Amino acid sequence: MYRVLYLSHLASGRDFSVVAQILHVSRERNQQLGVTGALVFDGARFCQLIEGPRAHVVSLAQRIQADPRHTGYRVLFENEDGSARLLPRWLTGYCEPDDLDVFEDGTALTAAQALQTFLQRVPGWDLSS
Ligand SMILES: Cc1cc2nc3c(=O)[nH]c(=O)nc-3n(C[C@H](O)[C@H](O)[C@H](O)COP(=O)(O)O)c2cc1C
Repeated sequence: MYRVLYLSHLASGRDFSVVAQILHVSRERNQQLGVTGALVFDGARFCQLIEGPRAHVVSLAQRIQADPRHTGYRVLFENEDGSARLLPRWLTGYCEPDDLDVFEDGTALTAAQALQTFLQRVPGWDLSS
């Protein structure tokens, strides 16, 4: 599995309609690509884990990074290993406004801790597939 976890901010001048568009496209496209994971939005920030075949995850992450609907894309974790999927379904939804503070710059999380923290929070977020 190749995995990328990142944090970004909704671009200024964009509103919530962006989120609905992204959820719609990603649901269909990620299934085609064999990509699973989770995307959460807190009203201002996105945090997303994508996992799947290396080529698909790398090209998707590049596409997402270049998307003008968000800014400040910052990778929190990126790695490949032989493990099974951590999130076997594609989940999306909302989180509380301070849930993502822990991932902001200046917090002392290692990449592995950032991934663990994200995964620990997924069950508490009301995400749907
Ligand atoms: C925060 C954010 C997360 C996104 N997540 C995904 C995703 O998981 N899967 C996906 O296909 N597109 C996602 N997109 C949209 C892509 O950037 C891109 O618009 C979409 O894949 C269509 O690409 P295309 O116009 O090159 O076909 C995301 C965009 C943003 C801003």
